[in-house]
Amino acid sequence: MSIKVECVIKEKNAIGEGPVWEEKDETLLYVDISGQKIHRWNPATNQIQTMTTGEPITNKFVGCAVPRRSGGYVIGEGTRFAAVDWASQTITTIAHIDADKPNNRFNDGKVDPAGRLFAGTMALEERPAVLEPKQGSLFSLHTDLSVVKHFSQVDISNGLDWSLDHRTFYYIDSLTYTVEAFDYDINTGALSNWRMVYRLEQDEGVPDGMCIDSDGRLWVACYNGGRVIHIDPHTGVRLQTVKLPVQKTTSCCFGGRNYSDLYVTSAYLGMDESDLAKQPQAGCVFKVTGLGAKGIPTNSFAG
Ligand code: BGC
Ligand code: CA
Repeated sequence: MSIKVECVIKEKNAIGEGPVWEEKDETLLYVDISGQKIHRWNPATNQIQTMTTGEPITNKFVGCAVPRRSGGYVIGEGTRFAAVDWASQTITTIAHIDADKPNNRFNDGKVDPAGRLFAGTMALEERPAVLEPKQGSLFSLHTDLSVVKHFSQVDISNGLDWSLDHRTFYYIDSLTYTVEAFDYDINTGALSNWRMVYRLEQDEGVPDGMCIDSDGRLWVACYNGGRVIHIDPHTGVRLQTVKLPVQKTTSCCFGGRNYSDLYVTSAYLGMDESDLAKQPQAGCVFKVTGLGAKGIPTNSFAG
């Protein structure tokens, strides 16, 4: 089977991000961070449902949205974790973070195999990837709704996922140009024993969102790299590069029947007229098939 890349969602996102496959509805959940929107796309009908988050205040952006076991979603928005009731389109604060850094905002987040939501922050950007360094932190929201701050000094908190045995946490702080790993304690959510597992090559761009596959290997979307790279975190070897027709590829997740389709989000924010003319699909969502790899079911927040 050969690899095929299709543009499946033609509605453009300023910063399309955080794709999540919702198995029960067979829909793809994703956000437009600076567009301040949560979208749900149904591949069978090609319909998109959209909810606008927050007020249009700079840096009250929605960094991530994840399904909640009891219904609705949890989002990392601005400097708060909040609950979303999709039916009534209402948002309720769960917890505030980074109280001393009002210009920070949540970026990428994901639910661990025990139902905790991990999400990190970053400073307000002057333009994409240009910002005051070391302002971000990594947080987790536990099922009792308490918040833990794991570490600070992060530039752009980004992709994250867990190994299949739940003993390793993979993490990207974009401006380090690396993929990192920590030992993970699934019973407590604690991180220890940091190490680097992969350093991006110059032409690969900036590491952004990522996901794990059913072989325990990582797929990393490379912002400004127009690609997703497939890496083996055990050997640090890049196994494959999948090129996309847009440069600002932001994140990826497996979905569809059997989790064999790789969905890839993208952004157009920060592109000038000439870039936009060359990349008319910037901001769209793509589907990659024929990879011969599969994802694993999505975790939902259990609080
Ligand atoms: C952030 C963007 C940032 C990009 C590049 C994304 O995860 O949401 O604001 O420009 O990463 O690092
Ligand atoms: Ca991201």
